[in-house]
Amino acid sequence: MTTDGHTVPRTGNGFIDAAHSSLMDHVDAIRRACADGASRDSMVPRFSRFADEMRTHFDHEEVIIRAAGFTRWEEHASHHAMLDQQFGRLIDYVRDCDVTSDFLCTVAGTLDAALCGHEIRHDGDYTALVRAASLAPEGQSLIAWDSAFEVGVGPLDAQHRQLAELMNELDMMSRQGAPTGELLDLLGLLHDHVHAHFAMEEGVLRRVAPSRFVAHRNHHRLLEGQFARIRQQVESGRLDPGVAVRGFLRFWLMDHVLGSDRPTFAEAADAAPR
Ligand SMILES: [Fe+2]
Ligand SMILES: [Fe+2]
Ligand SMILES: [Fe+2]
Ligand SMILES: [Fe+2]
Repeated sequence: MTTDGHTVPRTGNGFIDAAHSSLMDHVDAIRRACADGASRDSMVPRFSRFADEMRTHFDHEEVIIRAAGFTRWEEHASHHAMLDQQFGRLIDYVRDCDVTSDFLCTVAGTLDAALCGHEIRHDGDYTALVRAASLAPEGQSLIAWDSAFEVGVGPLDAQHRQLAELMNELDMMSRQGAPTGELLDLLGLLHDHVHAHFAMEEGVLRRVAPSRFVAHRNHHRLLEGQFARIRQQVESGRLDPGVAVRGFLRFWLMDHVLGSDRPTFAEAADAAPR
């Protein structure tokens, strides 16, 4: 994983490492195209696709580091937001102005240096923690259920637990080398359960805490989008199902339960008339 002679350290989370490699390959291809004299019109969509890939990576990385317990995740997320904004402004400038091919090379070099700098300097802050949280020891369940995960509403806790069990099964089957079709079927089943769970949870929340319903439903829409994107990447063969569940989906579920549902239902219980 090198660009400009620098090495982006591995985080020990296969999902993040694959995204870092892909981004480095992407920016490297962009730099080579600019050096070969590619036109501005051909480069603008490529710059935009790169910015989209980077934004998706940031979005996923924030879920993982939050769920892994990285206390400075907000500070990290603000670095992501700043980079996203800087890249957006640069790409807008290239789109709107008649720039030279030399300038395109400068833009590509800037994207490369800024992203690489972030991955080396800032991602290094969470590496030890994420490496430990991403361990998936042989013979043990990926997600060991704990009563600390409970939100206090029986049917919702049962669904959360079932989602964890389906993820454990996906992890186990992928380690045992199950056929891809079976893994995709299981991922599809998991997706169905995610939809059913969000629908039920929104119904409960509407009843017990109507003031929190809209914000929580909107949050579910974001989570659904993340899940659907991961499923799409797995189905298209761009992401290994085992890497997806071990490196991202387990964190996605924990972030949903511990980072969102538990505080929401705890606040709802506190606000309930006694
Ligand atoms: Fe990163
Ligand atoms: Fe980052
Ligand atoms: Fe939930
Ligand atoms: Fe929720």
